[in-house]
Amino acid sequence: MSDFLTGYDIQHWLESAPQGYLQGTEYGHAPGEKEPAVLLGDPVLREQAIGLTVQLVVGERCALAASSGLINAAPDEASKRFLATQTLDEARHTEVFTQRLHDLGVKKADLESTIRELANPNLARFAEALLEKVDKKDFVAGVVGQNVILEGMAFHVFEMLHASNRELNPKFAHTLAGTIADERRHVGFGENRIGSLIREHPERKADIERLQREMSYWMLATFGSQIRQGPGPEEMQQRLAARGVASSERGAAWQGVQLGEATTEELESALGGTILKEFKVRLERIGIDYQSPAQP
Ligand SMILES: [Fe+2]
Ligand SMILES: [Fe+2]
Repeated sequence: MSDFLTGYDIQHWLESAPQGYLQGTEYGHAPGEKEPAVLLGDPVLREQAIGLTVQLVVGERCALAASSGLINAAPDEASKRFLATQTLDEARHTEVFTQRLHDLGVKKADLESTIRELANPNLARFAEALLEKVDKKDFVAGVVGQNVILEGMAFHVFEMLHASNRELNPKFAHTLAGTIADERRHVGFGENRIGSLIREHPERKADIERLQREMSYWMLATFGSQIRQGPGPEEMQQRLAARGVASSERGAAWQGVQLGEATTEELESALGGTILKEFKVRLERIGIDYQSPAQP
């Protein structure tokens, strides 16, 4: 096996994930853990949770379609095997977040119509653009779209969700922790594999930068419109407080923002700032210059 893929083989995946941090979990959380009563009992909070979880399912379905499609586009056997493990990770993520929709009260018969109705159009547009590259068997563009842009950006959203749910909703936080561990492996693969491919094919650099500019727009537009949607953090906090949830349980500090007290603008700028800062570092490591997307 070539050295750029050390740590990305099936044996490593088995030992670290199914036999490691996922051992003993049930749909990604500890057996018996439930969505908190305060969430299930407040129709506005429950709707908000359903809306957010739909975006997670849409993003994970996109990653499942892309990672499985990329297996047959991969130029080497080691990448094919890694993408097979990623395919199973993404299938697991779609299952875990779909299960959360059911736990939040979405009936099996209403699942697809709920997802169609609530899916963020910017995220749907991103998925379309990515899957177009995958269908053309463009491995470099597919891995940049999936493992660098989609996962590199979503990673920080998962981290923020994890920080704000650790006290309030340990069940959801546990499913996110396993997902974050998986995503760390996926973005690591993207950086390693694409870094070496861009060095081998410098002629692809300009068109990958164009792709990055277009695709990061849809991701940032998704985050922006999701954060602005629904009751907003202030009303969420009031609703939690009205149901007796202590402020210490309403969300931890993340990137200098006290999530329990943050306004929409503060959340948006913290998330946008972190995503872009880390994203630029990631691109630099693979030899790509960041191109600023149009303001969402
Ligand atoms: Fe995923
Ligand atoms: Fe992933």
